[in-house]
Parts: sequence; structure tokens; C-alpha cells
Amino acid sequence: MSIERKDDHDHKAWIKEKDLTAIESTFLTVLVWLDRRLRIVDYLELLETLYYRVNLQMPKSHTEQYNLDNKFWYWYPLYSLGFFSTLSYVVAAISGALLGFYYSPSAAAATCGVDGSTVAYCAVAGIMTDLNFGFFLRSLHRWAAQVMTAAVFLHMLRVYFTGSYKEPREVNWLIGIVLLSLTMVFGYTGYLLPWDQLAYWAGQIGVEMSLSIPLVGDWVAQLMFGGFSLGQATLQRMYLLHVFLLPFVVTTVIAIHLGLVWMQGIAEPH
Ligand code: HEM
Repeated sequence: MSIERKDDHDHKAWIKEKDLTAIESTFLTVLVWLDRRLRIVDYLELLETLYYRVNLQMPKSHTEQYNLDNKFWYWYPLYSLGFFSTLSYVVAAISGALLGFYYSPSAAAATCGVDGSTVAYCAVAGIMTDLNFGFFLRSLHRWAAQVMTAAVFLHMLRVYFTGSYKEPREVNWLIGIVLLSLTMVFGYTGYLLPWDQLAYWAGQIGVEMSLSIPLVGDWVAQLMFGGFSLGQATLQRMYLLHVFLLPFVVTTVIAIHLGLVWMQGIAEPH
């Protein structure tokens, strides 16, 4: 599309000259009016270029590309696993943000009917018992997290068994490994937040595992868990990782991963 910009007094005469219908001349008059103020024609041209670029780069469907017509390839349903990983991540992110309104990452003592309970524990108990649909929100978040872990792992198997990690997709395979690791860290840090018995002892296992790393074990335990025994510093670190650091990092890495899929197209399924 290329519309010549005319001088102010020119365009009315030009529109008249063209013998246009009432609708066409109204459309052009509005367009010219807007363009003089907002340069919208430039933006329309930009959109047009983008449209052609997208269509150049978007992969054709498998059936189109490999001329498979009506044949149904039995691997196809497994190609949706990447999408399910993304979808469950979005559900977990939204439900998690809502849970954040009611949760508090404090290991200080509190009473909510259980001996030795903490503010964090009581916040989660409150979400389950006092908050309207709180039990639903928390269940949605936990299920989304578990579905995501399963979907990511199965997606990796699909990519492996269809040989889709081969040239030129090696970098996206490596980015995938990073995503799988980050997904597990996401799950682990979230698991500790209710600060119940499961969380506490899972944390203890984390400390022991860190300490077992040769040479840097002490340092890793200090950094990740805030010491060698669990406490407020541990909970605070897990909270920061879970609700602040990981969401930004994982969202960015997923965007890069999907960007590469978009640029390279889906691998040939043979
Ligand atoms: C948060 C985790 C992940 C998300 C959201 C995600 C998302 C996606 C999506 C939507 C696709 C398009 C094709 C499809 O849906 O199957 C894809 C392709 C791909 N993914 Fe992932 N993925 C993740 C983790 C992984 C992991 C763990 C690996 C491997 C270690 C991996 C390697 C790849 C590769 C190599 C492709 C290109 C496959 C092809 O062209 O057929 N991804 N990913």
C-alpha cells in the first residue's frame, strides 16, 4: 500500500476528481484527516510489512507442507504438549498471583488450631477454610503446576522421539533443558511455601543435598536456604524465587523458546 501525501488544499480536489462513491470519498476524507494528525498510513504500511513477514515465516501445517492430505499421523496429538505446557504455566501464573493477595511468607509463630504453626501455614489454612473459593484457587494452582511439570517432560520426550532436537534446533533443545530445570525449581520453591511438615522436610532434604556438593556445598546451602537449618531466611528466599525471580525468568525463556519455534517452523515429522 502506498498513498501519496498531498498538500492540504489538494486532497479534496483529488478525491472529487476520482469520481468515487459516497462511501469511498467519506472513507478517504476520514483517512486523510486522521493521517494528517496521526500519520496512520505509515503505521498501516508497517502492519502490512509485518503481515507479509509473518506469513513468510509461519510454518505451514504438516499436512500442507508434506502433502499428507487426509492421512493422520499418529504422533500429531503429542505435538500439543508444548501448548499444554504454556497453557498450564499461564493458569499457574494467574492463580498464583491471586493467591499472593492472601499469603504471607513469615515463619513467625501463629495460632490457627495446630500446635507450632506459623503465619505462612495459617495463611494457607485460611485460604482453604475462610476465603471464598480459596480451596478452588489453591487447588487450581497446584494442579496447574503438576500438569505443567508432566506436560513439559512429555513434550521433551515427544521432541526426542520425533528427532526434532536435530539441526537446526539444537539451541532450542538446550533452552528446553533450561526450561525443564526451571520448572522443577518453580515446583520445589512453591512446595516449601505452606511451611507445613511436607514443606519443612522437603526443605531439610534440599539443605542436605546442597551440603553434599563437593567444595561449594556450604556456600550453596547458605545462598539457597539462608543457612544450614531452616527458618525465616529459608522461607523468604523460596518466596522471592517463586513469586519474583522465576516468573520473570521463565516467562522470558518461554518467549525465546516459542520465538525460535516460530522462526524455524515445526520439525519435519519423519
Ligand atoms: C516450560 C517449558 C516448555 C514450553 C512452554 C515449551 C513450549 C513449546 C511449544 C509450544 C513448542 C511448539 C511445538 C509443540 O508444541 O510441540 C515447542 C517446541 C520445541 N520444544 Fe519446547 N517447551 C518447553 C520445554 C521444552 C523442553 C524441556 C525441551 C527439550 C529439552 C524442549 C524442546 C523443544 C524443541 C527442540 C522444539 C522444536 C520441536 C519441533 O520443531 O518439532 N522444550 N516447545
